Amino acid sequence: MFIKVENLTKSYKTGEVTTTVLKGVAMELHKGEIGVILGPSGSGKSTLLNIIGGIDRSDSGTVIVDNIKVTKLTDDELTDYRRDFIGFIFQFYNLIPNLTVGENIEVVANISKSPFSIDEVLEAVGLLDKKNRFPKELSGGEQQRVSIARAVVKNPRLLLCDEPTGALDFASSREILKLLQNINKRFGTTILMITHNSAISGMAGQVYRVRSGEIVERIMNETIIPAERIEW
Ligand SMILES: Nc1ncnc2c1ncn2[C@@H]1O[C@H](COP(=O)(O)OP(=O)(O)OP(=O)(O)O)[C@@H](O)[C@H]1O
Ligand SMILES: [Mg+2]
Repeated sequence: MFIKVENLTKSYKTGEVTTTVLKGVAMELHKGEIGVILGPSGSGKSTLLNIIGGIDRSDSGTVIVDNIKVTKLTDDELTDYRRDFIGFIFQFYNLIPNLTVGENIEVVANISKSPFSIDEVLEAVGLLDKKNRFPKELSGGEQQRVSIARAVVKNPRLLLCDEPTGALDFASSREILKLLQNINKRFGTTILMITHNSAISGMAGQVYRVRSGEIVERIMNETIIPAERIEW
């Protein structure tokens, strides 16, 4: 198993109030698979993804990614893990506004162990011709494609996407999903994606439905729907 999460718990304290956000979550994902986490707002999806990606820490339980016991890493080891193994894509693209498309990708390539070439990933996301543009000169969908290229250039073992289409219209969303499916095929990258949109789950091998910090349903899809056939 490429990802194995067992009995994961997490609470947040704000003042006197403790909120339990993850109540013993278990999930797994094979290498090269696309997994989707579905669930309503506040159910703990981002918290789970962030713990898997080493951005946040759990209170108890284990996360293993590619034989690395993430929940046992020191802070320094966690920094290396994030840098070397994980690509992150967020709802809002977080591009650096005063760097060009190419430069936004280059800053990540420069700190990566075995990066792909910048032009190869730009070509994969269909933006080679916009390499010298600035983010503000691109549409939202194009900016998200740059952020995908930036996450992919480091050749991550795991691509984590938190609502990657949350800020986009239907047509751009479908383009982004198609692209993620292509990245998964072309580079063999394992992808774990959060969404509110249950139509998207058709393109995943496995779907986990989260409610109030618990996995309430696990669906394994026999057939995977190409993103261009997804409708909502
Ligand atoms: N740093 C924090 N401090 C306190 N509470 C937090 C913190 N981060 C998240 N929470 C709380 O944990 C719960 C789950 O948050 P989380 O961001 O994981 O939800 P989500 O499922 O990703 O929701 P959404 O779909 O709205 O992004 C929420 O009730 C949220 O208020
Ligand atoms: Mg969230």
